[in-house]
Amino acid sequence: MDKLVIHGGKPLSGEVRVSGAKNAALPILCASVLTPATLRVQNLPHLRDVTTMLTLLGQMGVEVSLDEKLGVSLTAAQIEERVAPYELVKTMRASILVLGPLLARFGEARVSLPGGCAIGQRPVDQHIKGLEALGAEIRIEQGYIHARASRLKGAHIVMYLVTVTGTENLMMAAALAEGTTVIENAALEPEVTDLAHCLNAMGARVTGAGSRVISIEGVDQLHGTDYRVMPDRIETGTFLAAAAATGGNIKLVGARADILESVIAKLREAGSVLEHGEDWITLSNEAKPVAVNVSTAPYPAFPTDMQAQFMALDAVADGTSVVTETIFENRFMHTQELKRLGADIDVQGNTAVVRGVERLQGARVMATDLRASASLVLAGLVAEGETRIDRIYHLDRGYECIEEKLSQLGARIKRAN
Ligand code: UD1
Repeated sequence: MDKLVIHGGKPLSGEVRVSGAKNAALPILCASVLTPATLRVQNLPHLRDVTTMLTLLGQMGVEVSLDEKLGVSLTAAQIEERVAPYELVKTMRASILVLGPLLARFGEARVSLPGGCAIGQRPVDQHIKGLEALGAEIRIEQGYIHARASRLKGAHIVMYLVTVTGTENLMMAAALAEGTTVIENAALEPEVTDLAHCLNAMGARVTGAGSRVISIEGVDQLHGTDYRVMPDRIETGTFLAAAAATGGNIKLVGARADILESVIAKLREAGSVLEHGEDWITLSNEAKPVAVNVSTAPYPAFPTDMQAQFMALDAVADGTSVVTETIFENRFMHTQELKRLGADIDVQGNTAVVRGVERLQGARVMATDLRASASLVLAGLVAEGETRIDRIYHLDRGYECIEEKLSQLGARIKRAN
């Protein structure tokens, strides 16, 4: 199994390009199921989750081809296998995103019910309730969601809580429903808006994405298009936090600052100097970072997907901070590993008190989930001596060429078997 070996203590410096957003790419790939025509997707990040999604779509019968400009073309002319099997769903929960499109276009779908995962229980009841409101008949049998409908019908849906993939699934299903659907308490995440833009480019009539109320006027059919995925705001935030923690000076190109405001505000509070243009962000942080409190919440508040990385930053900052996780009930697995590097962290329920230490020291640690792994990389970049991170397949799910990109910024990092 691959490991990352990091020799820390060197500030990051230089320029690197941000990849396409994983969490926008995954639903956009699923949108291909909504039309028999070809959807061409550009700026797809080369990640394990994207490969898993392409495998799932391929198994279902979607023709997938890579063109010379690294765009991926998907043609779902006919789909015989309207199934997302357990073997794939267990490795990637976002597989649930095929449920809405399959049901809307073919009137049936069978998707393995995702189980709990490392960061919490993560039920999908809101996806199911929303599809039922659109007229689907849903049974749970032998671990699978069986959904059927003749044609979905527009409905008024009030989401009980804010769910990103839940909003996306319903938006895709409603795109081919008869009549208008209104989703209240929709997720505001920029990836939801990116999917709405892609759907509209395919002929859908979605308005209000990016606000609490999304309206979808259903159409009889969608057509193909050529769509470029937005940049990854979590990858962007991770590199910025890494530069801040190491006292570095970096420029990220192909990055958007307008979708990262809560993170940028916290980095400024931590003492970093940030500047940005339309598609770039620079950060410099000459001094030791200052401890900052963070509390996670749905967009536009501070993202749960950046919590672990900020904990690593706080671990080496000046002062004491309080980190509160409000989205997932078990998203502090990284604290035990950060402590192995010398961090001083106390966890009480969903709150962690982090007392900044003078220095971290390299050790062997284990990645437990995607963003937890990123926090260990950050800590390893700051720590004195050698840090070895095991189980980095978690990291490969969401960060494209992370060791190459960090090496480009001067980090001493390599992959080993
Ligand atoms: C998405 C992101 C993930 C991010 C998360 C929160 C993708 C592929 N993944 O995950 O990186 O960490 O948003 O920003 O986009 N919930 C329910 N019932 C449901 C659905 C959700 O109770 O039917 C709960 C979840 O357990 C969680 C909260 O709602 O506590 C938010 O989860 P949700 O927004 O659905 O996360 P995902 O869409 O799975």
